[in-house]
Amino acid sequence: DKPLTIPALLAMKARGEKIATLTAYDAAFAAVMDAAGVDLILVGDSLGMVVQGHSGTLPVTLDQMVYHAACAARGVRRAVLAADLPFMSYASIGQALDSAARLVREAGVQMVKLEGGRKRLEVVRALAGEDIPVCAHLGLLPQSVHKLGGYLVQGRDERAAQTLLEDAILLQEAGANLLVLECIPAALAGEITAALSIPTIGIGAGPACDGQILVCYDMLGITPGHRPKFSKDFLAGADGVAGAVRCYVAEVREGRFPGPEHSF
Ligand code: KIV
Ligand code: NA
Repeated sequence: DKPLTIPALLAMKARGEKIATLTAYDAAFAAVMDAAGVDLILVGDSLGMVVQGHSGTLPVTLDQMVYHAACAARGVRRAVLAADLPFMSYASIGQALDSAARLVREAGVQMVKLEGGRKRLEVVRALAGEDIPVCAHLGLLPQSVHKLGGYLVQGRDERAAQTLLEDAILLQEAGANLLVLECIPAALAGEITAALSIPTIGIGAGPACDGQILVCYDMLGITPGHRPKFSKDFLAGADGVAGAVRCYVAEVREGRFPGPEHSF
């Protein structure tokens, strides 16, 4: 298959085709996912939890993101590769441009992801102005865990829901190319998805999003501790890791995952 591009992901939304996304942190997993038809691979700062054993993403450094993104890049042929800008690597425009440039230049990612709404518009505009594709991220923001008071579902009341919808539109207008929606009510995610021309990628955000993402160790059932409600163990009953990933891709494409039991 010829390599996917960011415009191709946008065209998938226009055609109503779901975007199957997973996280990867190394070449072997990235290669398995790529071969199984995963469209978008994200080197997430969730590696702080699943690879490093921390309780959150705040300890993850830009050097570590560059290292893991470069490892994953060597496994990718077809999928679009994105990486997270970690905590405090995009607090100013200059810092954001420098951090993104390292992920693009040293690791070879095609897109960077950052967390937050209206307070990130200037940074998103600056990255877009340098033609660095941006994935925004709204809802539960792990880099804001101390302010949020925990890993809690967001956008439950009318006012918070309205703010999220407005933020999503502002991020699109600022030049974001993609939007991750994490742990928000399924109905709100559907409303946001319908309001945008850029694709939404949901995690704990219900079936109406244009694509889905899971942390790879969660979908293989090997995350230490408890597995989040929105995840599913695709390795249980599958024929090996590649089979589990193919099953995930098929269920996302056909709209069978997530079900109501994985949604809020
Ligand atoms: O770090 C991560 O894995 C993420 C996804 C869960 C969206 O940000
Ligand atoms: Na992340």
